[in-house]
Amino acid sequence: MGIQRVAVVGGGQMGGGVAELTAKAGLPTVIKEVSAEAAENSEAAIRRSLDRALERGKLDEAAHAAALANLTFTTDYADLADVDLVVEAVVESFDLKAEIFAALDGAVTSPDAVLASNTSSIPIIDIAMATGRPEQVIGLHFFNPAPVMKLVEVIPSVRTNESVTASMTAFATDVLGKVVVAAKDRAGFVVNMLLVPYLNAAMRMYADGHASAEDIDNGMKLGAAHPMGPLELSDMIGLDTMMLVAETLFAEYGDDFYLPPPLLRRMVAAGHLGRKTGRGFYDYG
Ligand code: CAA
Repeated sequence: MGIQRVAVVGGGQMGGGVAELTAKAGLPTVIKEVSAEAAENSEAAIRRSLDRALERGKLDEAAHAAALANLTFTTDYADLADVDLVVEAVVESFDLKAEIFAALDGAVTSPDAVLASNTSSIPIIDIAMATGRPEQVIGLHFFNPAPVMKLVEVIPSVRTNESVTASMTAFATDVLGKVVVAAKDRAGFVVNMLLVPYLNAAMRMYADGHASAEDIDNGMKLGAAHPMGPLELSDMIGLDTMMLVAETLFAEYGDDFYLPPPLLRRMVAAGHLGRKTGRGFYDYG
């Protein structure tokens, strides 16, 4: 029967991007937020992104209207009862995710529904065991900005049904048009195991005064053809997210190169979280 209706829990940077993708793919998508104000902010951000796609000729008027019509917002888990797929995309807190998956277990009625987490680093099995149906729980890890980045990591836990892994791989590929990397349920999966030590190293170079932020970023953009330098990319990901992901990787592997650099901790403590707060390694006015 396939996926007919989708829910996204958390309509922020990542969840909003995922909801935009599923709405554009023609699927009614309900976004569960914590408050009416958060839901309004989420709707405004997705609308801005869809408007930009319309202006750039990526969507025509009909597709733009259809995508908007596919989106609804709620603060009530009861409105997720009839969905076939949930993608959870809240902050990287195990306690919060466990609470959400327990609530989803109670709210989503179909036993065949897939409960997916967009976690960057938390073990899928830990999240799955917060439900009474761990065989239906899987990791679906999108990359920021989700409407643009081609990759999705698909991460089954040791309890995930093989049919769920196959259906999510087909969904990401055939419905969302992504390229799938199959990853093992280890912190950081494939991409963040490689990306986090690199971003941490750039922060340490900057903190040591080895080079300016601009020179570090230009070095990697112009010398290694990366679309963004490591410090501007960290600002885009969000320094709070960066710190939580690095801490999870360090807790899993104990290798020093995963440890969040002291400067990152201080910037997070100061509320300099990158683009979303207007200040990180760069000032966004
Ligand atoms: N939402 C939707 N579309 C967006 C967008 C957004 N937030 N940001 C950019 N776009 C679209 C633009 O509309 C544009 O589309 P067209 O060219 O088709 O018209 C296209 O992306 C390029 O955008 P721009 O011309 O404005 O800017 P750019 O060429 O500099 O590209 C970028 C922007 C796509 C973000 C590019 O800089 C890039 O690829 N950066 C690296 C991103 C990256 O590494 N992401 C992974 C982060 S790690 C992660 O997510 C994992 C984790 O767990 C932490």
